[in-house]
Amino acid sequence: FGVARSICFVGAGFVGGPTAAVIAYHNPHIQVNVVDLNEERIKSWNSAHLPIHEDGLLKVVRAARDGTVEKTIALPGLPRAIELKQRQPNLVFSTRVVDAIEEADIIFICVNTPTKTHGIGAGSMADVSAIESATRTVAKHAKQGAIVVEKSTVPCGTAQMIQDILRYYRPDVEFEVLSNPEFLAEGTAVENLMHPDRILIGSAQTLAGLRAAAVVKDVYGAWVPAARIVTVNTFSSELAKLVANTMLAQRISSINAVSAMCEELGLGADVEDVSLAIGKDARLGSNFLQAGVGFGGSCFEKDILNLAYLARELHLDVVADYWLAVLRMNEDQRQRFARNVVRELNGSLRGKKIAILGFAFKDGTNDTRNSIAVHVIKDLAMEMPREIAIFDPGCASAEIREEIEKAGLTPSQLERIKILTNWRECVQEASAVCILTQWKQFRGRKLGSGNKKAPKLAIAWAKSCVADKVDISEMDILALEELARDKSSATGEDPLERLVPLASCPEQCSHCRIGS
Ligand code: UDX
Repeated sequence: FGVARSICFVGAGFVGGPTAAVIAYHNPHIQVNVVDLNEERIKSWNSAHLPIHEDGLLKVVRAARDGTVEKTIALPGLPRAIELKQRQPNLVFSTRVVDAIEEADIIFICVNTPTKTHGIGAGSMADVSAIESATRTVAKHAKQGAIVVEKSTVPCGTAQMIQDILRYYRPDVEFEVLSNPEFLAEGTAVENLMHPDRILIGSAQTLAGLRAAAVVKDVYGAWVPAARIVTVNTFSSELAKLVANTMLAQRISSINAVSAMCEELGLGADVEDVSLAIGKDARLGSNFLQAGVGFGGSCFEKDILNLAYLARELHLDVVADYWLAVLRMNEDQRQRFARNVVRELNGSLRGKKIAILGFAFKDGTNDTRNSIAVHVIKDLAMEMPREIAIFDPGCASAEIREEIEKAGLTPSQLERIKILTNWRECVQEASAVCILTQWKQFRGRKLGSGNKKAPKLAIAWAKSCVADKVDISEMDILALEELARDKSSATGEDPLERLVPLASCPEQCSHCRIGS
C-alpha cells in the first residue's frame, strides 16, 4: 500500500455523493469516480440540479467536477464580489461501474442498507443485499491490493462478510477491508464533512490492515487534523456507528418522555426550561435535547433496530429491550401528538379540515423518507377528517404523495389528503394546524404566556401570521379556525412566502427553494 491515486465510490446517494465531492475537493491530486447504476441519479449529479440538497454542496461539486472554484471576496466599503478560479477537475459521476472499480486504489461502498421487509429479521435486520452485490462486482474487477472500505451503515460483522465474498471470488488476492462509517447529518452534510468531530477508521490489527488504514487516513489528512482521526479495530468501528446513532436517539426520547410529563403535570412545567437547565451541565451538554413529535429519518430507527437485533442474537434480551425502549418512546410521542389533536377537537375529526405544515423528516432537507409526518397523518386519517392538507416548503409534492401511498391508507382516506404548494390554501378553514417539521419558516416568537402555562396544546391562535406563532418543541398545534378569516392578509404580507423566496433557479425546482 502506498498513496492513493484513484478512488471509487460505489453508490451516489446521500452519503456517497457528498463524501466523494469533499474528498475530491481536498485532494486535487486524486481522481475520484462516483458510480451508480441509476442513470437518472447520475444525470442529476452531472447537472446544476444535484439530486440532494445540501448547503454548499453545489459549490464543492462545481470546484471538483467542473474545475470552477468560487471565492467570495469582501473588501471594506465595496459590495461583495465573486472571483472565479480554475483548477483541474478530478470528480466524475458515471454509470461506468466496472471501469471505475478497475482503476481504483480505494473503493468506498456507499450503497443503501434498508431494514429488511420480509423473511428472517424482517422489520429489524438490515438488508445488506446491495452491499453483497456491490462487493461481488468489486471482487471480480478490483486490482490487486485495492482497499475496500465499507461506508454504508451496516450491521456489525459486515466487513467480515465483505472479506469472505472477496476471498471466495479471488482466493489468490489479499484485499484489506476497512470500516469508515459516516457521521454526517442531512442538511448539514457539507459542514459535517468539512469540519468533522472525528473520522473513524476501523481495520484489521495486522500489518497489512494498519497500512491500509494509514492510506485512508492520508486521504482525510488532507484537511482533517490528525487528532480527529481515530483508528480502531474493524468491529469497534462498526459498533461505534450504531451506538452513536442510538445514543443520540436515546437523548431525544428521554427529553420527549419529559415533555409528556410536563404536559400531564399541568403545573406549568415547561420542557424547554428543563432542557435548558439540564443542558447547562457540561457532562450532559445542550445538543439533541429538543423535544418534538419524535425523531424521523433513515438512520436512527434502523440503527437502533440493528443494535437491538445484535443484542438479541447474543442472547442479551435485557440489553435489546433497553435499546428498543428508545423506539417505543418515539412511537408513543407521535401517537400522543395525534391523540392530542383529536382530543382538542372534541374527540372527533369528522367534517373537519386538518392542516399539516412540514413533511420533511427534519428542517433543511427535502428528504421525505421515514418522516414522522407520515405516521401522524396516518393516525389522523383513521379519524376520517373532511380533509388533511399538507404543505412543505422544501419537499416535492410527488415525493410526499409517494410516501403517503406507502403508508397503507384506504382509498377513501387517501382521497381526503391534499398536497398543496401554497401554505395559505393549506391552513385556510383548518380546525387545527400541525407543525410537524421544524422549518425555520414555521418557528418564531413564542405564543403568549398562555402557551407557556398550557404546553399541552396552544389553542391560542396566530394574531398576525402562522410563522410567528408556532413552537413545535412544545408540540403546539395552532387551532386556526380564525385563520379562515385570514388575519395575516390584513397586513398585506405573506410571512411564509416572504421567508421562502424562490432562488434564481429558472425551473424553481423544490431543491432550490430550501434555505434560499
Ligand atoms: C443522524 C445523525 O445525526 C448523523 O450523525 C448520522 O450520520 C445519521 O443520522 P440525520 O438523520 O440526518 O442524522 O438527522 P438528525 O439531525 O440527527 O435528526 C434526526 C431526527 O431527530 C430528526 O427527525 C430531528 O427532527 C430529530 N431531533 C433532532 C429531535 O427531535 N430533537 C433534537 O434535539 C434533535
